[in-house]
Amino acid sequence: MSTPRHTAVVGLQWGDEGKGKVVDLLTAKHDVIVRYNGGANAGHTVVIGDEKYALHLLPSGILSGGRTCVIGNGVVVDPEKLLQEIEGIRERGIAITPDNLLISDRAHVVMPYHKEHDAALERVLSSAAEGGPGLSIGTTKRGIGPTYADKIHRSLAIRMGELRDEDHLLERLKVICAIRSRELTALGVDAPPLDPHELAGRFAAYGQQLREHITDTVYALHDLRNEGRSLLFEGANACLLDIDHGTFPYVTSSNCSTLGIPAGTGLSAPCADDVVGIMKAYTTRVGAGPFPTEDNGADGERIRERGNEYGTTTGRPRRCGWLDLVAVRYSAMICGATSIACMLLDVLSGFDELKICSSYRLPDGSITDRFIPDARRLLDAEPIWETLPGWADEIDAIEDRADLPPEAIRYLDRIEEILGIPIHLVSVGPERTQTLEGTRC
Ligand code: IMP
Repeated sequence: MSTPRHTAVVGLQWGDEGKGKVVDLLTAKHDVIVRYNGGANAGHTVVIGDEKYALHLLPSGILSGGRTCVIGNGVVVDPEKLLQEIEGIRERGIAITPDNLLISDRAHVVMPYHKEHDAALERVLSSAAEGGPGLSIGTTKRGIGPTYADKIHRSLAIRMGELRDEDHLLERLKVICAIRSRELTALGVDAPPLDPHELAGRFAAYGQQLREHITDTVYALHDLRNEGRSLLFEGANACLLDIDHGTFPYVTSSNCSTLGIPAGTGLSAPCADDVVGIMKAYTTRVGAGPFPTEDNGADGERIRERGNEYGTTTGRPRRCGWLDLVAVRYSAMICGATSIACMLLDVLSGFDELKICSSYRLPDGSITDRFIPDARRLLDAEPIWETLPGWADEIDAIEDRADLPPEAIRYLDRIEEILGIPIHLVSVGPERTQTLEGTRC
């Protein structure tokens, strides 16, 4: 028996790089698909034939038969959303069983008051900031930050395993609801106090529906690895949104780089033999925060329309701009990327010229090729552009990388050169078939 290879897939920009498609493609080569971070803030779109699947909590591998999908302890789970997603998938004829979906009993539960807190704080911060510097993060309002905050704060947190015991849940919620109701009122939420009995009943019912899936995924993952199964780690969000290494405070609340894998699964590092860093052929960002290569003019608008750059989770138009390779190179370093998947190259067809940024000019006139994860300092970084010729023809029907227009090949070569990492996969459309595999390096 050959030694199984374990792979991690991780976004190298600010999210929405097309990780769902790559995970879906790599699922064929792996037995176990693992989510280790984030929650329903993520949105992974997979297109199979005429069907489009938008997954937020379920690992994308659920769409392929015969795989074990694991929601690890590092994920924050909104049980209502998860059950809706499970139902939607079942309606399309895909079975979800205790064998193909395992949910960590240690994953933290997103409660309704977390989502209310998230939305209320954003509201308060955006009105407080009128005329001044922006303080709101532009979150997805899925309760991600408040749930992770409860995890770190400990006393008021609820884990998935607790949903199996309604009496215990009720006792805890009596205290939690009293405190949370006061906090929500202080944030200007005009609603009746939270009802612990209603919440305990509702969430215990969710726990009942998910009961067969909730388990100790740490031992399960070790067992699967020891049995020789190959693991695929599906990173949600992206490296530049990592709580420690992203553009803080305009980040999400988990370690979405590959550094989150050990803590979010209970597997010791190094967890993956191959780390596939996913990048778009350009850059996008949703929500607030610095974005040096953002283009607020016609080029950015054209990228948005051609790339259908609207959020999978919130529907918000994404901010668009040219490729920032300072940022990608930094993320590839943090994540230990061993290869690159370059997505959405087809979106760039029809531009006369394309711009790439591989260094920044700082306010003191100096030039750096190092990323600046400090959001305030990054605001002052000015991209230094390199201009490459574009190509006119559509490339979405091309099946071989060598058949791409010479300008597209040159664009990819230049990316490889700057990153020093081979591009193993190029995507020229949403379908599984619109993928050019193999490297020129
Ligand atoms: P939160 O994760 O909802 O707290 O949002 C924090 C920031 O991360 C916001 O700017 C969101 O738009 C951004 N964000 C969170 N998840 C994703 C994602 O999967 N793709 C893109 N942006 C995301």
